[in-house]
Amino acid sequence: EKGAYPFFMLKEIDEQATVARHLIKHYFVDGIPHIDAAILKSIKQADRLYIIAAGTSYHAGLIGRRFFEKWAGIPTEVHIASEFAYDHPLISKNPFFIFISQSGETADSIQVLEFVKKAHYASLTLANVMNSTLTRDVDFALPLLAGPEIAVASTKAYTAQIITQIILAAALAGGHTDLQGQLSRLAVDMQAVIDGKDHIKALADDYLVNADRAFYIGRGADADVTLEAALKLKEISYTLVEGFAAGELKHGTISLIEHGTPVIGLISQSKTAGLTRSNLEETIARGAKTMTIATKNLASANDEIILPELTGEMEMFGPILEAIPIQLLAYYTSLGRKLDVDHPRNLAKSVTVQ
Ligand code: F6R
Repeated sequence: EKGAYPFFMLKEIDEQATVARHLIKHYFVDGIPHIDAAILKSIKQADRLYIIAAGTSYHAGLIGRRFFEKWAGIPTEVHIASEFAYDHPLISKNPFFIFISQSGETADSIQVLEFVKKAHYASLTLANVMNSTLTRDVDFALPLLAGPEIAVASTKAYTAQIITQIILAAALAGGHTDLQGQLSRLAVDMQAVIDGKDHIKALADDYLVNADRAFYIGRGADADVTLEAALKLKEISYTLVEGFAAGELKHGTISLIEHGTPVIGLISQSKTAGLTRSNLEETIARGAKTMTIATKNLASANDEIILPELTGEMEMFGPILEAIPIQLLAYYTSLGRKLDVDHPRNLAKSVTVQ
């Protein structure tokens, strides 16, 4: 039930800090990330991970990949299920497949699972709906614990998918000092961002409700989030949006910048913050109306959305905090256009056809 909420999407955005806490409670034992030993053993035998998913779940996989590589030291590829099913790359000797899905019923991912089973490759599904095709027909399954997600646009499942991958990567790495503490602080930060929604509504009204196109740019993990930011805004507000690596602007897309074109920059990665800022400046010089979403430690006073500070290793959690304003911008743009936020045209919650 959505109670006092006008749409399920807003309720589900609001629930994200709570979902993070559920995941911490479920997956930590005595401060240590705890994953079934059989799962860890099977993954540790692998020479490469193949993450398979669609849409928003694919975007979560892009973020997860960074943790599997950096923390667990396992080379990881992320693939769009519908592409992998008909055109897969050369597969390593000992692959391990990770399916990510909110519904567990995405036909494109099921198609890949059938291939994986035939080849006798090991597999794990991270799903929100347990007891679904993708959790039943697989070697292992782990729950995302986001609770029912009703709005067509996925929100809390996305952050739950990222957090679950982080916990799995930490468990593979042999524990992680203070991950529980870090994730608990992150949940507090997520709530603080959610509580700033009125400000984000004002920005959506100012920048996006009357725009026919928009761009999201960022680098590294922030570039991964631009894809999700663009998808969210496209699917519920019908704005033509592209999200891409900021460095690619000057290789083509900058020609689309006109007077007043909204360009939104995501900045949570210290190595590239300055570069993304220069790219934003380049679009301003062509008339763009820029909005900057930055973590506090990398923010400048004029930035439109300032997220809580994330320094050191915590920087890797940037996408989780960025998820909230990009979801809220999409929500309020759709709302501002008086659209049916929860039921965008032509879309189904679970895509059971290929
Ligand atoms: C976008 C969205 C879709 C799904 C995709 C995969 O907001 O919800 O892109 O992420 O259809 O669905 P699942 O995760 O159920 O496999």
